[in-house]
Amino acid sequence: MTETTDAATREQQALIDTLPADFRWGVATASYQIEGAVAEDGRTPSIWDTFCRLPGTIDNNDTGDVACDHYHRMPEDIALVPQLGADTYRFSVAWPRIQPRGRGAINEAGIGFYDRLVDEALARDVAPWLTLYHWDLPQELEDAGGWPARDTAYRFADYAMLVFDRLKDRVRHWTTLNEPWCSAMHGYVNGVMAPGRRDFPAGIRAIHHLLLGHGLATQRMREAAPADTQFGITLNMSTADPATDSELDREAARNADGMGIRVYLDPLVRGRYPEDVVADLAARGAELPVEDGDPELISAPLDFLGVNYYFGVQLSGTDEHGRATDENGLPVQRDVPFGEPTTSMGWEILPGKLTELLTRVGRDCPGVPIYVTENGSAFEDEPDDAGYVADDGRTAYLAAHLAAVAAARQQGADIRGYFAWSLLDNFEWAYGYAKRFGLVRVDYETQRRTIKQSGHFFRDTVRRVRGS
Ligand code: NOJ
Repeated sequence: MTETTDAATREQQALIDTLPADFRWGVATASYQIEGAVAEDGRTPSIWDTFCRLPGTIDNNDTGDVACDHYHRMPEDIALVPQLGADTYRFSVAWPRIQPRGRGAINEAGIGFYDRLVDEALARDVAPWLTLYHWDLPQELEDAGGWPARDTAYRFADYAMLVFDRLKDRVRHWTTLNEPWCSAMHGYVNGVMAPGRRDFPAGIRAIHHLLLGHGLATQRMREAAPADTQFGITLNMSTADPATDSELDREAARNADGMGIRVYLDPLVRGRYPEDVVADLAARGAELPVEDGDPELISAPLDFLGVNYYFGVQLSGTDEHGRATDENGLPVQRDVPFGEPTTSMGWEILPGKLTELLTRVGRDCPGVPIYVTENGSAFEDEPDDAGYVADDGRTAYLAAHLAAVAAARQQGADIRGYFAWSLLDNFEWAYGYAKRFGLVRVDYETQRRTIKQSGHFFRDTVRRVRGS
């Protein structure tokens, strides 16, 4: 036993020990959250650069201008991955570095960075796992209509091919989109993420065009792919339970599940949008703009499905006064806490819901290998004088959720790997730098990196499971 494995309870440890020796262990990041260097080597603004400059959008007026300065420290950061025991590094490519105008020829300096990154990872025996879109749409494409416009899906497929042609000889795992729910709903409906629009029908069009972009890009990459290249997509998923057995609460949970999970998963694995969701949308004057041939593209076989899980929710269909509709006449959907402890994001810690979610996804997607492509937690970390963080909260979260993954495997879900979010503390979108998810602490004054206790726990767990 090594120094940190007693951070897991005996039961958790026993479950974690059932993970197979060939289980994939990764850590994840995303371009805008870590790179900085936003105006270097031809990169142009993405929707996030623009959004961060709008007043009141980001806590503390933080931006991704410098972030973790990863663009200048990439080799040092990649070196951390094996130090954490991980065999895989999930990162994303910044579209505006590759095509500064959102279209046209490749920017050599931009792709050069990722070319070096991939080589650096491989040199350290770390598999590079590439995400093509983790939210940094070139601003010029947003100005031309963004994801609510069908053309953006075609632009995405062109961009994907530029990256694919350069890196397909070395990258085996390709994720098209990260969390299209966030792009569509937070970006175009709720206004809390870039580009910050509040337009429900536009957000619904964005859902379809994101999925279409996935389908178009996958089709073109697959035609040009070396054998054993794998393609997939990452969805964020929260379980949605009714707060009580009442019809209104069950309806609220159905609706949340429909808009949160099924509106993405059904077209991907079944080739059609769920009828109940289509009807709900029509009642709100919104439509998924499906054209002939789209369903076939979107539902082409996936080699893997990525699941990002952080929490589950419980819903009521009535407000505190028992009313079933809100001031706009829309059905109420109110979060009712389970009463469990929360992370500093205010998200309840519910590892059991991860087991439930993964077994459900396993049932709904037979034959599709599942990877937990993100899971992790933010806590108010306090470093000691040496910068070390004894992050008991994050370590316990990790232990509980790894055990939850192992439990789902035991119940039959085909889960092949787990990626901790995140390698580094980083720019947590609208929350800026205040929320820290890293297994490695970043001191933003000095850019010093220090592996936290949770990082050591992760490393020790991997070693133990591998028997090394
Ligand atoms: C999911 C997103 O993919 C990632 O960018 C974000 O930082 C984490 N969730 C934590 O909120």
